[in-house]
Amino acid sequence: MKKAIILIASSLFLVACNSEAATLRENETITLFNKNCAGCHGLELNGTGLASGIRGLKKNDILHSIINGDEGMEANILTGENAERVATWVSKQK
Ligand code: HEC
Repeated sequence: MKKAIILIASSLFLVACNSEAATLRENETITLFNKNCAGCHGLELNGTGLASGIRGLKKNDILHSIINGDEGMEANILTGENAERVATWVSKQK
C-alpha cells in the first residue's frame, strides 16, 4: 500500500513537472516570436503597417518563409530548432 501511494504521488509529481516544462517551453517560443517577428507581424499576429497578419497559415509555409525570407523579410531570422518551434507555434494560432 505504501509503495502504491509513493508510486501515485511520484507520478503525479512527474505529470506536474511535465506540464510546467511544456508551459515554460511555450513561453520561450512566444518570447522568440515577440523578439524576432512581432515587430513586423504584430504581437497578436494580425499584422502591422510593416507586414501582413500571419494567422491560419500552415507550419511548412511559415517555416519556408522564415528560412527563405519573403519580400521585405530577410532569410534565416531564426534557424534550426528555434525556427521549427516558432513555425509550429504560429501555425497553432488560428
Ligand atoms: C522586418 C520585418 C519582418 C520581420 C522581423 C519578420 N517578417 Fe515575416 N514578413 C515580412 C514581410 C514584409 C513579408 C511579406 C509581405 C507580407 O506578408 O506582408 C513577410 C512574410 C511572412 C510570411 C508569409 C506570409 C504569407 O501570407 O504568406 C510569414 C509566414 C512570415 N513572414 C513569418 C515571419 C516570422 C515567423 C517571423 C519571425 C521569425 C517574421 N516573419 C519576421 C516582414 C517581416
